[in-house]
Amino acid sequence: MIEPIKPRDEALELLDQRALPEEVRYLHCTRGDEVIEAIQTLAVRGAPAIGIAGAYGLWLEARALQGAIDFSTRLETAKQAIRNARPTAVNLAWAIDRIWRQVEGMGANEMVPRLREMADQLFSEEWARNDRMASYGAALLVPGSRVLTHCNTGSLATVGVGTALGVVREGHRRGLVKEVFADETRPLLQGARLTAWELQQDQIPVTVVTDSMAASLMAAARVDAIIVGADRICANGDTANKIGTYSLAVLARYHHVPFYVAAPMSTIDPALADGSQIPIEQRNPDEVRYVRSAMVAPRDVAVYNPAFDVTPGSLITAIITDRGVARWPYARDIAHLLKTEAEGGRHHE
Ligand code: MRU
Repeated sequence: MIEPIKPRDEALELLDQRALPEEVRYLHCTRGDEVIEAIQTLAVRGAPAIGIAGAYGLWLEARALQGAIDFSTRLETAKQAIRNARPTAVNLAWAIDRIWRQVEGMGANEMVPRLREMADQLFSEEWARNDRMASYGAALLVPGSRVLTHCNTGSLATVGVGTALGVVREGHRRGLVKEVFADETRPLLQGARLTAWELQQDQIPVTVVTDSMAASLMAAARVDAIIVGADRICANGDTANKIGTYSLAVLARYHHVPFYVAAPMSTIDPALADGSQIPIEQRNPDEVRYVRSAMVAPRDVAVYNPAFDVTPGSLITAIITDRGVARWPYARDIAHLLKTEAEGGRHHE
């Protein structure tokens, strides 16, 4: 089993995803700023995973500051920095806000163990959420499905089986998924490096394609479903995910291929009415000018490098969550799922 996040008694170990697939190595973090750097450099990545890593980062920082006279002010500053380490995936801010609400005002001795407890809780909840999502999603697949996916949404991006890749795994386990196409996912190659690596370990047949090959696969009727993850889903179903997701959704509509988004409830941001309000992270131009260490464009050429794009809800066939499946028009179904989540119990079919 792939373990992207390993909480230890006095530290946090993060699988350094920048080195995959060549090398499996872990970063050893004992401070909040080390976790921030890991999040910003994509050593740990994927919406749910950065929420969990951020939660442990807050615990580590509180541990390190224990005993300081200005504990509260310094921790508050660190909390803001962790919360804002990456802007698009709402899971990070969601996790930190949820935890902070419960510990605000506590003294250090009470707060430190409580922070650890809450990070552990988030971790184990995520496992269960992945399993439920996988099961709801697999029920939408037809036998013999050839599934196209984008970026990495597996164990590396969450903990547990993954979001979109969790659906693929469960679909394969039930004998419904025949083959997976993994988009390479330029510029940072999460599909080629990470998704292909994960699926190979599970012995699920996977074929890597460059992003520009997806259209020709669909034109050749070789894709039965597209399943992607999400970094933030608005109240109306508009969804931010890895750059390149939007073009897949447009292609899917043209070729009549169902286009599914799989994400836990923590990815839904009901405060945002539509996708125009989602903050989109712009990343370093060198990520485009170079592939790993090889220069593939003039050193100083202008570059456009948004890490995410927004797919309008109207192009999404269904949104698979751990509380059930939402359908267009999304506002009503999403509101209902949020209500179920707040009540904490019953599942919506
Ligand atoms: O920049 P990344 O690699 O963190 O982007 C990740 C994605 O876009 C995933 O599709 C998304 O976070 C969902 S992961 C379960």
